[in-house]
Amino acid sequence: ITSQSYVFFIIGASGDLAKRKIYPTLWWLYRDGVLPKNISFIGYSRSQLTIEQIFENSHKYMKIQEDEHDIYEKFLKLNSYISGSYDKSEDFENLNSKANKISHQVNAHRLFYLALPPNVYESVSELISKHCRPASPGWLRLIIEKPFGKDLESSNKFSQHLNKLYTEEEIYRIDHYLGKEMVQNILVLRFSNRIFSRVWNRDSIAGVQIIFKEKIGTHGHGSYFDEVGIIRDVIQNHLMQILSILAMEKPRSTTGEDIRDEKVKVLRCIAPIKLENVIVGQYIDDKNVPKDSTTPTYAQIILFIKNERWDGVPFILRAVRSKALNERKAEIRIQFRDVPGRMFDEELSENNVERTLARDELVIRIQPDEAIYLKINTKRPGEMNFSIEETELDLTYNERYQGVKLPNAYERLILDVFMGSKINFVRSDELQEAWRIIDPILAEIEKKKLQIIPYKFGAIGIREAFDAAVKQGFIYTRTYVWEDD
Ligand code: BG6
Repeated sequence: ITSQSYVFFIIGASGDLAKRKIYPTLWWLYRDGVLPKNISFIGYSRSQLTIEQIFENSHKYMKIQEDEHDIYEKFLKLNSYISGSYDKSEDFENLNSKANKISHQVNAHRLFYLALPPNVYESVSELISKHCRPASPGWLRLIIEKPFGKDLESSNKFSQHLNKLYTEEEIYRIDHYLGKEMVQNILVLRFSNRIFSRVWNRDSIAGVQIIFKEKIGTHGHGSYFDEVGIIRDVIQNHLMQILSILAMEKPRSTTGEDIRDEKVKVLRCIAPIKLENVIVGQYIDDKNVPKDSTTPTYAQIILFIKNERWDGVPFILRAVRSKALNERKAEIRIQFRDVPGRMFDEELSENNVERTLARDELVIRIQPDEAIYLKINTKRPGEMNFSIEETELDLTYNERYQGVKLPNAYERLILDVFMGSKINFVRSDELQEAWRIIDPILAEIEKKKLQIIPYKFGAIGIREAFDAAVKQGFIYTRTYVWEDD
């Protein structure tokens, strides 16, 4: 019996994504011995290149260690490259015969990673389905990454196109945030700890913030970003994904279908966003961005989930991209309600209470420096009276789990595709719901109905957004100091 072969195709092998992420990730997975034995890799794109050139381009991202040269050579030998168009049948027939030849099997399992500009998604996905399907029992898996359209309509159109050519089973839509350690941990935190599961609702939680900050400008090419904007780039996908896992009901099991069913259900409960709950801003320093641009580089969206668990609880999604910020951060902050019966608060006069107690807050820091910490009140140590201070129950990963290597998001996700695990991939109905929620805001921005607030180099945020959060009942206590902040 010959063992089953696998062929991994990198379509768009000469591009930036392949160079920076896909080739290095495949190398690390191969090096770590987690890929199937009988595997070959085929790079495909329009440029006339050799596989050596492709590897040279990727070299600095591969981080090859001194003692890894032999295994790296082996990896290189499993790779080949072929050039061809993105719209001609004969080129994909050619790719197909090359794959048959390399794998010595017509029924090898085939994985296609589309590392391509979105304008060729349609033709490439069609040609792969038509010409590059393996014979049975080989399976095909198609890996694609955003942008999945630019609004609800174009996204639906693309989904319909894919659904004509592939089963949902075959499609792996990547949202790389689902491959991050702390995003994956939300499920475990929520559903394996009674201490959290009992308070995870409107009775105890005052509000939730999901925050993304990035310090770079617009990747140095303002013109690309100008078409996309931060809402499409990170809110519609990454932050909505985090939201759905944070807010969903408990799935029946840990299978991909059960989890994604719950994610879709909670997204469907999100009420249409009110314009007054959206604040958009634009960073005014990037010379590449056209003067009349309405593309937000800052957005804060407050939304509400109309179900029994969450009714009335504000969920604030905030994403900022600015050269001004001196930090890159993604975190979740869950603020709990005040303790009833203000035994420790000092009554100054009627309706005027000096707040002694800060609110409890659970913070899940996704990056950098993964951590979970719970802000609590404690008696100030050593004091003779009830002097209270805030402190943290602190699980900072690089202190608690020293020496544990956390695989990066692409390593986990590509391995998931080999295993056929769908937990961390976006199903088409999820995608559609996320667009349904975000689409009207984008339309308003386009119609210039929303004022874009400019913010300057040096600004740490937008005052209006902060005020909006306070208006929704968030309480920021000045006494709180967290060293890494
Ligand atoms: C991508 C966005 O999806 O996520 C980028 O297109 C953004 O603009 C990136 O920089 C952030 O990812 P990470 O893993 O660096 O937080």
